[in-house]
Amino acid sequence: MEYTTLGRTGLRASVAGLGCGGPSRLGMRNGARGEKNAVALVRQALDLGINFLDTAESYGTEAVVGKAIAGVARDRFIISTKKALPSARHSDIEGEVKRGLDQSLKLLGTDYIDVYHLHGVEPKDYDFARERLMPVMRRLREQGKIRFIGVTEGFVQDPSHQMLQQSLREDLWDVVMVGFNLLNPSARGSVFPMTQAKRVGVLNMFAVRRALSQPDRLKGILTDLTRKGVIPRNAVQAEDLIDFLLTESDATTLPEVAYRFCRHEHGVDLVLTGTGNPEHLRANVESILKPPLPGSVLQKLEEVFGNLDYLTGN
Ligand SMILES: NC(=O)c1ccc[n+]([C@@H]2O[C@H](COP(=O)([O-])OP(=O)(O)OC[C@H]3O[C@@H](n4cnc5c(N)ncnc54)[C@H](OP(=O)(O)O)[C@@H]3O)[C@@H](O)[C@H]2O)c1
Repeated sequence: MEYTTLGRTGLRASVAGLGCGGPSRLGMRNGARGEKNAVALVRQALDLGINFLDTAESYGTEAVVGKAIAGVARDRFIISTKKALPSARHSDIEGEVKRGLDQSLKLLGTDYIDVYHLHGVEPKDYDFARERLMPVMRRLREQGKIRFIGVTEGFVQDPSHQMLQQSLREDLWDVVMVGFNLLNPSARGSVFPMTQAKRVGVLNMFAVRRALSQPDRLKGILTDLTRKGVIPRNAVQAEDLIDFLLTESDATTLPEVAYRFCRHEHGVDLVLTGTGNPEHLRANVESILKPPLPGSVLQKLEEVFGNLDYLTGN
């Protein structure tokens, strides 16, 4: 494993982080693979050298992470978890945030969270998050229950990063979680220059998602972009593009291309990988540790997707 410094937090984090949410939720979405397998997956991640575990109160995986880290020295891993936004009309907003954090601490079996985020903040909610929730988070940090404060965007609702662009004009957040992948590299121009200037830590989500783990979905997206005239007709055939990406990159799978694309982006500190499959986890860590994609591949991706800021990869 390789390790990096997560912006101004100074935390030494593995360049691959385990995402305990997303479509897989450690294989537990809809109870698919069960808790025992999920605990084993988190332990596998630790064995592979991953020390960054990202979960959230809404994923239903905090207890699994808690079981997997029980008995492991607390300084061997970094816990990132999130609070869903309470309603602005909630009668006790501060109490609700405190209750959420206490519940996360209990399920995770720890007495502090390394990075505590506001979860999926949309542009319409940003003022509320900043004015009503941030002061509460700061008080919790003063009490030692949180080390660093983060915010994650709602990438599906906000694929051009309006919330993050607004939030990064100020200097409030230690860490941000950003949707970035080869289908929508728009954070390169609109987010990363600001995070780098302020030394805000950057966690990359949506590196692969469904479109880059299922070649038929990618073909569908390319056909749709061609039909809409976003990609000039006959400029690129889906089959040819996928073949080109794999051959030129000397990659075995499309997820490998997608993870390498993100991992070597200047501005990304850590790439989250979400899976319920131990074989995928092993392969993904291997991909994240492989060299950058060759220039010819980066150039082709720039030609095809470089100007897009509305795809998510779902
Ligand atoms: N707003 C937010 O705060 C927010 C939103 C979304 C995500 N997140 C965080 O970001 C993390 C990463 O996002 P993500 O989970 O969507 O991750 P991702 O790594 O982009 O995509 C995960 C999807 O790809 C599949 N996959 C992974 N590796 C594969 C492989 N080698 N071959 C084939 N399929 C593969 C997984 O299915 P399998 O289970 O079959 O491998 C899963 O469906 C989440 O887990 C969560 O922690 C945060």
